[in-house]
Amino acid sequence: MNALMATYAPLPVTFSHGTGAYLYDTHDVRYLDGLSGIAVTNLGHAHPAVTEAIREQAGRLLHTSNYYHIAAQERLADTLTRVTGMERAFFCNSGAEANEAAIKLARLYGHQRDIEQPEIIVLEDAFHGRTLATLSATGNRRIQAGFEPLVAGFVRAPRNDMEAVHNIARNNPNVVAVLLEPIQGEGGIRPLDSDYLHALRQFCSEQGWLLMLDEVQSGNGRTGHFFAYQGLNLLPDVVTTAKGLGNGVPIGACLARGTAAGVFAAGHHGSTYGGNPLACAAAQAVVDTLESESLYGKATHLGERVRAALRAEAGDDAIVDLRGRGLMLGIELARPCADIMQRALDAHILLNVTAGNTVRLLPPLIMSDEQADTLGAGVGRVIREFHKAGTAREG
Ligand SMILES: Cc1ncc(COP(=O)(O)O)c(C=O)c1O
Repeated sequence: MNALMATYAPLPVTFSHGTGAYLYDTHDVRYLDGLSGIAVTNLGHAHPAVTEAIREQAGRLLHTSNYYHIAAQERLADTLTRVTGMERAFFCNSGAEANEAAIKLARLYGHQRDIEQPEIIVLEDAFHGRTLATLSATGNRRIQAGFEPLVAGFVRAPRNDMEAVHNIARNNPNVVAVLLEPIQGEGGIRPLDSDYLHALRQFCSEQGWLLMLDEVQSGNGRTGHFFAYQGLNLLPDVVTTAKGLGNGVPIGACLARGTAAGVFAAGHHGSTYGGNPLACAAAQAVVDTLESESLYGKATHLGERVRAALRAEAGDDAIVDLRGRGLMLGIELARPCADIMQRALDAHILLNVTAGNTVRLLPPLIMSDEQADTLGAGVGRVIREFHKAGTAREG
């Protein structure tokens, strides 16, 4: 028992340090990290470029205020917009806050067009965060239950269903934007259909709606590009990210282009910490390292190795579906598998389970080929044992 509010039920392990793809517990036992703190430590633990950037910045200046120019923030905005095809950036401290910024931006965009009750289309099984607006946008009743009244202004649609979007457009003149994850993360690692996303892009342009992508989990090099949309030849109006951007130093960003980039003016939005010198120095090192170490291509290559090793070890009958892009992988099993986290921990592998029956892997992009093979084979073994235990019980 400790003095923490019981919002999490942690597994019985405490880590003391990490290096690369490994974490070490307080007894110095080594674990292969297949989760990266949920897509955060994409460059692994204690990456020298990030450590050095933090050390250097911390010795000079941690924080000033957005009342003054912040050179590190302006530089990071320049880099991120160059890398992503966006034009302007707003910095905050988390994924939920990045989505809050996008939601506010869309509402203001609506008001600037005389739409007084603007609404945003969101998808079933979406996850956008735990603040009141973002849990209202989330398509999971378990996350919303008990926190009603929900924030108004969201219209729900099934994923990959353009007809549903057309229907909403016919009946609802207040829609101003669509917010979605190009690869649903908490919803079970579900990449949306490319045809659907392209049709949506075109329809948003025709309707004057903003296409807003939540790349909090899929972004920062995880899927073979800085953002997943870049692998689809698609350009949103707004994109949000966080998690891997700071490799563990909290930072989020809402990026925009075109009309969307000019919606916010002074006083419309803000954050005390958002984009402070320390967070921006860490994120700059992350983005620079993704490029200098060619980690985009590596994510694709390593993802293929993990898949191959995993399939070989688990056997096809243990896996219902293997989904994802790059190093964002979901292995759907035939039954709920929450206890696989403990089974994997016993095998000194870190992973987690999402959407009840999907094992989720989000390993660091800096793994060696050998580590990718070991991870795939290790997870495959855990899945095979889990499958065998289930069939033994049934039989
Ligand atoms: C797609 C997506 N959006 C938003 C969030 C919320 O991010 P944060 O926990 O940093 O607020 C998450 C976190 O899992 C996410 O996966």
